[in-house]
Amino acid sequence: MKHLLKLGDLENADIIGILNLADQLKYERKHGIEHPVLKGKTLGMIFQKSSTRTRVSFEVGMAQLGGSALFLSSRDLQIGRGEPVQDTARVLSCYLDGIMIRTFAQQEVEDLARYGSIPVINGLTDYAHPCQVLADLMTIRERKGSFKGLKLCFVGDGNNMANSLIAGCVKVGMAVRIASPKDYQPDAALMRWAAENGDFDCQPDVLGMAQDADVIYTDVWASMGQEDEAAKRRAAFQGYQVNDAVMAVARPGAMVLHCLPAHRGEEITNEVMEAHADEIFEEAENRLHAQKAVMVKLMK
Ligand code: CP
Ligand code: NVA
Repeated sequence: MKHLLKLGDLENADIIGILNLADQLKYERKHGIEHPVLKGKTLGMIFQKSSTRTRVSFEVGMAQLGGSALFLSSRDLQIGRGEPVQDTARVLSCYLDGIMIRTFAQQEVEDLARYGSIPVINGLTDYAHPCQVLADLMTIRERKGSFKGLKLCFVGDGNNMANSLIAGCVKVGMAVRIASPKDYQPDAALMRWAAENGDFDCQPDVLGMAQDADVIYTDVWASMGQEDEAAKRRAAFQGYQVNDAVMAVARPGAMVLHCLPAHRGEEITNEVMEAHADEIFEEAENRLHAQKAVMVKLMK
């Protein structure tokens, strides 16, 4: 494993290796055991979109590993004035030991990896959010003990989160159900792959898809970059809300996860969100541990 561009590129063993290391790093952190294994290394973090969790967890994680992180806003970089990604990749490779990038097009992340000579980590594109799903899988395994026999149901927009959940959950052997309106389904090629390689279904029927699910997952109706479509999307996603009716058909004791930020009253009710706050905020914490594991695997 040279980069983390999307979960589809990883083997099951890569994912399990990251999760095992993440568990170890979490344990060590809780017990005051330091692990400065990236001493002297620098991660550049390019952001073309906003972030709370990704920015802070990567920066803090790098500090805990003994290295440092540079926050590079596209507003300040020449990339924001049109310097090609091929050139940016080659220049940054001279100074840095790794790059985390949050941007729009998946192709930009792939190009950064292709033209640069250092590890590239996808910190979210319109297509994928692999770091989030590694933290999600870590949280599921922590609470359920293993992935065996588990079913995850994602309710809402077939966006970057839905795509990465399909790839990650199928790779670890979970069943995946997606409840999305017809015009907002996940990536078609990824759904074909999931149907061929796992237990997968995608239908507009929320209660049918959520039936007996062990994990219910949702995300915003309008992602970053889709702000102009917010009103249209609000209409299209009526009924695609994680609420008591959805929880009533899920398996008793089902977990609820949300990548955050959440829009209470839209994709999730305040009641469900608060009833599952322990899981959702542990999921947010696990971003730190899972990403530290990714950085150790790629940059040590
Ligand atoms: N879940 C997530 O990636 O959050 P941020 O947008 O705050 O980084
Ligand atoms: N789908 C959301 C995820 C945010 C972490 C977005 O892309 O804005």
